[in-house]
Amino acid sequence: MNIIMIAGARPNFMKIAPIARAFDNIPAIHYQIVHTGQHYDQNMSDVFFTELGIRKPDYHLGAGGGSHAQQTAKIMTAFETICEKEKPDLVLVVGDVNSTLACSIVAKKMHIQVAHVEAGLRSFDRDMPEEINRMVTDAISDLFFVTEEQGMVNLEKEGKTQDTIHFVGHVMIDNLYYQLEKLNQMPVESFTHHAYKSTHKEYAIITLHRPSNVDNPDTLTRIFQSLETISNKLPLIFPIHPRTRSQMEQFGITPPINMTLTEPLSYMEFLNLWKDAKMVLTDSGGLQEETTALGVPCLTIRENTERPITVEQGTNELVGLSREKLFSCVDTIMNGQWKTGQKPKFWDGHAAERITKILIKQ
Ligand code: UD1
Repeated sequence: MNIIMIAGARPNFMKIAPIARAFDNIPAIHYQIVHTGQHYDQNMSDVFFTELGIRKPDYHLGAGGGSHAQQTAKIMTAFETICEKEKPDLVLVVGDVNSTLACSIVAKKMHIQVAHVEAGLRSFDRDMPEEINRMVTDAISDLFFVTEEQGMVNLEKEGKTQDTIHFVGHVMIDNLYYQLEKLNQMPVESFTHHAYKSTHKEYAIITLHRPSNVDNPDTLTRIFQSLETISNKLPLIFPIHPRTRSQMEQFGITPPINMTLTEPLSYMEFLNLWKDAKMVLTDSGGLQEETTALGVPCLTIRENTERPITVEQGTNELVGLSREKLFSCVDTIMNGQWKTGQKPKFWDGHAAERITKILIKQ
């Protein structure tokens, strides 16, 4: 079986790593990795390949930057040529980024089977570019690998047949446990933020990059005002996404004194920080899930989530843009009264093996 696996943006890399490892154990599977180049900075891309042990991509499409349409079109045009040459039996896409959408459309129009890993998630918010990517990818995919039970419900409602939907758990959590084990063998002094951790007994991690939060000056200013208030009680550390940095500069927003800004961090550097954080404040999808897996309190600066299990069973809560809710949740966490949560079903480190078993039966 010839498979092409797609990765393009930062949140894809941690998802393909465990799948590649599982494929490596199956001689019947021959796979190639295509990096679309959606993310192109060294610290948004290459560092993850090195740290997560992913082999060099077989193709790099260099399609980063530009508007959604420009980016999607560049990826589609370049990927079509690769499909013509390689004639894969199946294209495997992960997540919900523009690369996921672009490559699934190309493959399907060439009558190639598409498998979507992390299928069925819905925020029901069509202003999110990722929601459109999720909906379109699922509308045309042949095989759906689902991370949480709500994903199956959503796909069934959209008319997918049960034989195409597979509840396998979460490859990103496979990667988390794998890397955490490696991290635990590493000397603490080897991490860049070792000094920060030694001098800050408690701290919160911030990540923000969603267009709905960072592209509007009023919204971003409001978020920074809230963060300033929190920073009076708890130091904040913010590895900042390039989009957010450029918006802060454009809107003239300066960080509060008790906030440390860093460049985007590598997977291990970031894990080493957030695993011991008092709390995580984020608008990321993946981090809502990773914090649930390790039981770290998470406050999500969004009105909705496509990952409801993290709120229902995990340590996540949606605070939206409400200052009252945010401050009250922060107090609860500071007082040690936050929910401890439980690990969702199949978030056990074996999702990639389940996916592989299903694929070789196709
Ligand atoms: C993308 C994904 C989002 C994911 C996020 C993780 C889509 C629609 N969005 O958003 O789901 O959560 O990645 O980071 O696919 N930039 C750089 N260097 C880079 C990458 C981006 O400078 O390596 C800057 C560029 O100015 C670029 C902007 O960030 O135009 C936005 O990048 P883009 O890939 O369009 O979307 P993200 O906001 O990163």
